[in-house]
Amino acid sequence: MAVLEVTDLTKRFGDVLAVDDLSFAVAPGEIFGFLGGNGAGKTTTLRMVLDIIRPTSGTISVLGSAPDRRNAAAIGFLPEERGLYSGMSAIDTIVYFGRLKGMDAATARQRGMELLSRFDLGDRAKSDIGDMSKGMAQKVQLATSLVNQPDLLMLDEPFSGLDPVNQGLLEEEILRASRRGAAVVFSTHVMQHAERLCDRLLLLRKGRKRFEGTLEEARAQLPASLVAMAQADMDKLPGVASAKPLGQPAEGWQEWDVKLDPGVAPGAVLEHCTASRIALRRWDERRASLHDVFVQLVGGEGVEK
Ligand SMILES: Nc1ncnc2c1ncn2[C@@H]1O[C@H](COP(=O)(O)OP(=O)(O)O)[C@@H](O)[C@H]1O
Ligand SMILES: [Mg+2]
Repeated sequence: MAVLEVTDLTKRFGDVLAVDDLSFAVAPGEIFGFLGGNGAGKTTTLRMVLDIIRPTSGTISVLGSAPDRRNAAAIGFLPEERGLYSGMSAIDTIVYFGRLKGMDAATARQRGMELLSRFDLGDRAKSDIGDMSKGMAQKVQLATSLVNQPDLLMLDEPFSGLDPVNQGLLEEEILRASRRGAAVVFSTHVMQHAERLCDRLLLLRKGRKRFEGTLEEARAQLPASLVAMAQADMDKLPGVASAKPLGQPAEGWQEWDVKLDPGVAPGAVLEHCTASRIALRRWDERRASLHDVFVQLVGGEGVEK
């Protein structure tokens, strides 16, 4: 059964159609990238899953039931707007969130200490959040979303504002949660993070789904290209849209920059070469980056590589 299932979800704010007839599902253990530029409707969707705002129409199911307090205990959430109360220590803050999720204080404290140690903050457990650096406070906030070992972990733009070391740490936590069997949904407008982590992804533009599938399927949306050394004219091959010679031929070998027809896999062209006994020396497939796909499908606005 899907951990999260969204069906025909629509949200209007007055004239603004923030989410437009959106459907998707996320399975246990899956890392699901929720991608779109600014204003695409990512945060609005996550807020509806959390029951912070109500859909205009459509349904949401978390572990088989509509969002409410009962399944809140199974959800971990890192909001886009970060900020915790100062005046409270790191560990007390984490325990407070754990208690909100129905945990007993001792278990929450123990898990909280484990998380803080993993985040290199073990010695700062009793420090006031207000006295911490922004990066430290962000890690404490991440810990509040993990303390209950959620079945559904939702992180809204979790990478923004983190330095590279802490981004790596966050990636580790996402992978760890997935290994534990949690469904992880994270939104981002930075394609590299999605490229490294996602099992599946959804591209959103103006509230509408433009693509849903694996990274490979996303890349297959764009024509493939490759560089090869051959002893034949590569622009004559079936499946090849265009081929440009690179430099001068040497002893019969010519290097080519080859663009394939849409939907043609490089492997198919390679097979044809083998079958036709076309000698090849180099074969470098150039995969489209997720950013390329994004620009193609939804325009590059508000999206970073
Ligand atoms: N509370 C609100 N009132 C009115 N419009 C809103 C509200 N929240 C979001 N919107 C609008 O809904 C659209 C989607 O916003 P949002 O979900 O925050 O996008 P994203 O998180 O993908 O950047 C935007 O046009 C935004 O201005
Ligand atoms: Mg947002």
